[in-house]
Amino acid sequence: MTANDIRSSYISFFQNHGHAVIPSAPLVPENDPTTLFNSAGMQPLIPYLLGQAHPLGKRLVNSQKSFRSQDIEEVGDNRHQTFFEMLGNWSLGDYFKKEQLPWVFEFFTKYLGLDPKHLFVTVFEGNDTVPKDEESIAIWKELFSSEGIDAKIGERIFTYPARKNWWSRSGEPDHMALGEPGGPDSEVFYDFGEELHLHEHSPWAQEPCHPNCDCGRFLEIGNSVFMQYKKTENGSLVELPQKNVDFGGGLERLNAAVNNIRDVFQTDSFSSIVHELEETARTEYGTDAKSTRAMRIIADHMRASVMMIADGVLPSNKTQGYVLRRLIRRALLYGRDLGVWGNWEYLGGLVAPVARMYADVYPTVQKQQDMIEDVVKDEAKRFGKSVEKGLREIEKLPAVDGKQAFILYETYGFPWELTEEIARGRGQDVNRHQFEEEFKKHQELSRTAAA
Ligand code: ALA
Repeated sequence: MTANDIRSSYISFFQNHGHAVIPSAPLVPENDPTTLFNSAGMQPLIPYLLGQAHPLGKRLVNSQKSFRSQDIEEVGDNRHQTFFEMLGNWSLGDYFKKEQLPWVFEFFTKYLGLDPKHLFVTVFEGNDTVPKDEESIAIWKELFSSEGIDAKIGERIFTYPARKNWWSRSGEPDHMALGEPGGPDSEVFYDFGEELHLHEHSPWAQEPCHPNCDCGRFLEIGNSVFMQYKKTENGSLVELPQKNVDFGGGLERLNAAVNNIRDVFQTDSFSSIVHELEETARTEYGTDAKSTRAMRIIADHMRASVMMIADGVLPSNKTQGYVLRRLIRRALLYGRDLGVWGNWEYLGGLVAPVARMYADVYPTVQKQQDMIEDVVKDEAKRFGKSVEKGLREIEKLPAVDGKQAFILYETYGFPWELTEEIARGRGQDVNRHQFEEEFKKHQELSRTAAA
C-alpha cells in the first residue's frame, strides 16, 4: 500500500461509519493566534470539542497537514518528522470507547492488514482525580482475544501515567492552560521485532523493552484520546458537557508499519525526495550514519518547507517565517555531510518531488511549484553567501573565542556547530559557556529594548 492508498482507505472506512469528510485546514491556523502552526487534527476543531455544534454533524474524519516545530532537533532518527499528515476521526459527543477502539483495531488489522501479533496498546493508569481506564483495558482484551491472543497487562496491554497516556495540546493535566480540553488516551504501537532492542550496539539492550522505549522497536501508529475534561480556574479538571473522541494517526508512520519498513524515510512518503538527494550527492542512502542522518534531515526539512510556502509562509525573521528560514538553513548546513556544501541552489531541485508526491491530494503545491522553487533558491543563496562571508572572517582570526562565535552567529547567521567544527579542524576549542553567556546577554538587551 502507498501513502495515498492508506489515506483514502482510512477516510472511506470512517465515511462508511457515518463520518463527514472535512478538508485539511492550512498549516497556519486561520482563527487561532495562540499558535504558529496546526500541529494536530484536533486543533481547528477546538470550539466543537468544547461544545459548539459543527455544521457537518457529530462524526468527522480527515487528513490534516501538521507541523511540530518542537521536534526539529529530533529529526534524524528512523521516525521523527516536523511536517506530517495526521489521519483523524472525531466523535463530538457521539460514540465513545466501545465504538472507537474496535474500529481502530478493525481498520488496522482488516483494512491495512497489520498482523495483530505485531500490535501492542497502552492505556491510562489513573491518578488522584481520574481513574484507571479499565473500560479500554476490557475492550482491548476482548479484541485481542477475538484474534486468539491472550492480552495480558504488562505483556500486550501496558498502563502508563499521565506523562505518557494523557493528551492535551500542552501535555499532562498540570500543564494544561485554563479552558484547555484533554483526556486520557489509548495508543497503538507496531512492533518491528525484538532484535532492534537487543542489537549489540543498542544502548537499551540491558533494560527491559516496552512500547514507550526509545530503541526504535515500537512505533506509535495511532492515538485515541478520550477528550472529556477541561481545565478550570482553580486548576482542577471538570467534565466537558460532551464526551469526545479525538483520534490521530501519523500517515507516514502507518506507511512504515503497513509495509514493514523500519524507517519512514524509506517509504513512499519520502523516497522520491531521498532519491533526488542521492543523485545530487552521488551517495546511496544508508551508506553511513552521518550521510543517512543528513539525508533524513534535509528530506524532512524540505518537505516541510515546501508545504509551508505552498500555504503562504515566506522566510522572515518573525513567527512562521522564522521557522521556515530555520528549516531551509538547517537543510543547507546538513549538505556539508553530503559533500554538497557550496552548491546553494540544489535545494530548489527537491521541490518537484514533493509537488509530484502530493499532486492528487494537495494540487496547489504543484500549481505553485515555480514560485516555491524561487523562494527556496533565493533563501538558500542568501544564506550561503552570508556564511561564506563569515568563513572569510573566521579565517582572519588566529583563534575564535565564545564572544567572536556569537558575533559570527549574530552577523552572518553562523550556527554554533559550524564555528565549533571549523575551530576543531584547526585543533582549537571554542568556549561554549562564553558563547551562551553572550547569547543570554543579547536576549536580555533585546527584552529591555522591547519593554
Ligand atoms: N490529538 C491527538 C494527538 O495528537 C490524537 O496525538
